[in-house]
Formats: sequence, structure tokens, C-alpha cells
Amino acid sequence: MRAIILAGGTGSRLLPLTRLMNKHLLPVGKLPMICYSLIKLKEAGITDILLVTGREAAGSFTDFLGSGLDYGVSLTYRVQEQAGGIAQALELARPFVDNEDKFLVLLGDNLFEEPLKPHLEAFVQQSEGAMVLLKQVPDPERYGVPVFDKKGRIKRIEEKPEKPQTNYCVTGIYFFDASVFTLIRQQSPSQRGELEITDVNNAYASKGKLQHTLMNGWWADAGTFESLHEAAVKLMGKIP
Ligand code: G1P
Repeated sequence: MRAIILAGGTGSRLLPLTRLMNKHLLPVGKLPMICYSLIKLKEAGITDILLVTGREAAGSFTDFLGSGLDYGVSLTYRVQEQAGGIAQALELARPFVDNEDKFLVLLGDNLFEEPLKPHLEAFVQQSEGAMVLLKQVPDPERYGVPVFDKKGRIKRIEEKPEKPQTNYCVTGIYFFDASVFTLIRQQSPSQRGELEITDVNNAYASKGKLQHTLMNGWWADAGTFESLHEAAVKLMGKIP
């Protein structure tokens, strides 16, 4: 299976650090944030990886990571000219996943403990559609929040709801089949002018084609100072 790491965006919640460098290159313990995505994918046996980032940062990523050799992976790069949302960035992956029927998408600021392998194996068993990884969190209003039907399937996802209906969040770890590109094209920009990944996942959910698994262990979306600090403390001892 191939994977796509989305490492663009403005990182506005981490200003002024992100005026100096892209969020995904900020130090987390002993390594730049992006390295943890590569380590997790490699650990799951995924080595063919597309990295999507913005124009200003692309040179820094290629300088630092090159072909991916140091991490035992093979990197391809694509540049997102303007921040237009996660789903718009994902659209750029279409040529990369051309002949693959299933692939994994990782938001580069999602840092976590658990191996991806069991989730990947669950998705391989799934005949079609998409699969998201959920995590129980104390502050679901910061994230996409799933609403379940009576059978425990995701009915829809509410993006950053004021009154979350569950205490689960949809992590930035997504498995898709190739129909995602058709669904992205059917979306319109949200109020903040972005093509939202939650709208794409909801399109799958409305067809009854969105499955989920639960994540164990520690997980963080390192997009704020608090979560970045927490991630650094957790990961400091993990790298020799
Ligand atoms: C994005 C998604 C959100 C998800 C989160 C996980 O939010 O829109 O549904 O829960 O990633 O990291 P963002 O961090 O871009 O605000």
C-alpha cells in the first residue's frame, strides 16, 4: 500500500515559530516532526510515500529528507501552491495513487504511539470505501467528532462542533479507496474557503461506506503549543 503525508498549511496556531519554518519541520524531542510519520509508515511496511507541502517549505523538506534514504523510504513530492484545505491537498495525490485501489493518508502533525499495522490490515479486509481512526479525547470540540447510529456505525462527522455528541475525535489518519478523488471533486469550499476532509468522509458515510477502528495508546495533533510540548515530552525518550 502507498501512503500520502500532508504537510502543508499555515500553522497559524504555532506563530511565530511557523514564520521561521513549516510546522512539520519543528523539533519534537530529537527529530523534526515529519520524521515520526516516516518512522510510523516504515514500521507498518509502507515505503512508497508522497509528501505534499507548500511552495515555501518544499526546498527545506527536500534538503532535509532527500529521497528518504535515511529513513528507509522512497519519497515523491508534490507542491500545493495555496493552502486550500486537506481535501484539496489530497487531490494532488491522484497521479501518485493511479493504479492503487487503496491507500493511507496521514496528517503530518498527528503523532501517536500505536503501530499502524493492525489498522492497515483491517482496511485491507474492507471491500470498498474509507476507514477513519478514532480516539477518545477530553476536548473533542477541537476536532472532527463522529456521531454514531444505533448499530455503532458512523452516521456523520461534525467538524469542530460547539456541543460534541461524543467524546471521540476523528484522527488525521485516513484510509481511502480510489473513489475519494470523485468525492473530492463533488465538494464545495466550506465557510473558511477550504475543501474539508470531513465533507469527503461524510460523503462516504452517507453511502454507508465509512468504517472506523479505535486507536489505543497516546495520540496528539501537535498543532498547538500545548500539544507540541506534550508530544516532545512523550517522544523524547523514544529515539536513541
Ligand atoms: C483536521 C480535521 C479534523 C481532524 C484533525 C485531526 O483538523 O479537519 O477533522 O479531527 O485534523 O488532526 P485541523 O487540525 O486541520 O484543524
